[in-house]
Amino acid sequence: MIKLIKVTRSFNGQRVLDGVDLEVPKGKITVIMGKSGAGKSVLLKHIAGLIKPDSGQIIIDGFDITQATGRELQEFKKRFGILFQGGALFDSLTVFENVAFPLREKTRLSEEEIRKRVRERLDQVALPPEVEEKFPDELSGGMKKRVALARALIQEPAILLFDEPVTGLDPPMTNTVFHLISKTHEEIGYTGVVVSHDIPEVFQIADQVAMLHRGRIIAVGTPEEIQRFPDPVVQDFIHGEIDYMEA
Ligand SMILES: Nc1ncnc2c1ncn2[C@@H]1O[C@H](COP(=O)(O)OP(=O)(O)OP(=O)(O)O)[C@@H](O)[C@H]1O
Ligand SMILES: [Mg+2]
Repeated sequence: MIKLIKVTRSFNGQRVLDGVDLEVPKGKITVIMGKSGAGKSVLLKHIAGLIKPDSGQIIIDGFDITQATGRELQEFKKRFGILFQGGALFDSLTVFENVAFPLREKTRLSEEEIRKRVRERLDQVALPPEVEEKFPDELSGGMKKRVALARALIQEPAILLFDEPVTGLDPPMTNTVFHLISKTHEEIGYTGVVVSHDIPEVFQIADQVAMLHRGRIIAVGTPEEIQRFPDPVVQDFIHGEIDYMEA
């Protein structure tokens, strides 16, 4: 469903993506791993059409989004749900309005239907009704993550991108969020791309794992295949035996 072909992108003369080739199968969950600064968030933003590559193609359902006009891209973005690293909630909107936002922007549902759907999603991430009228500043980090997750899931999108959905959460909440990602994946059947540092925990929700290193995908396979992948860079990363930072 999603195919990246020789995607390159530099920032201020520094090449972050240096010919990324990756196929993300439809209806499956692909996990992208790699060191901090490797370009994982940049890669996700390319898939979401938020950043244009310097060269290369990004094909989604047979359509090259790098060639899309502003209007076409706008239409395209309706099919995506994104959970940004850091949550990116609107600070001036309540929890309710944050979660309702994609529905207000992309659908014409009645107020009653919006209320119902927001409540359902907040229930799933274990946030009680009294949280709905709070502002993001009044929430803990983990609660913000869960609100952001509820917002990403609410449109039941065809493609869901998660940038570090569990970073900063405690172990039980990490499990809850991974469970929720799997469960909603079973229900909705979206194509998912998850960036995560929680190795090997994230492998339990992955159909496919890809490793980004020095601007390229150096390994792709099932979690089992990746765990046996012979490249020492991959092995060291999985076993946490290298300097964490790439840049
Ligand atoms: N808009 C931007 N302008 C300039 N440089 C950028 C921009 N976005 C990303 N970069 C650079 O691209 C590189 C990769 O950044 P990116 O955020 O994708 O890393 P990452 O793999 O997601 O790291 P982390 O695991 O810490 O989130 C970094 O060197 C970063 O400074
Ligand atoms: Mg990142």
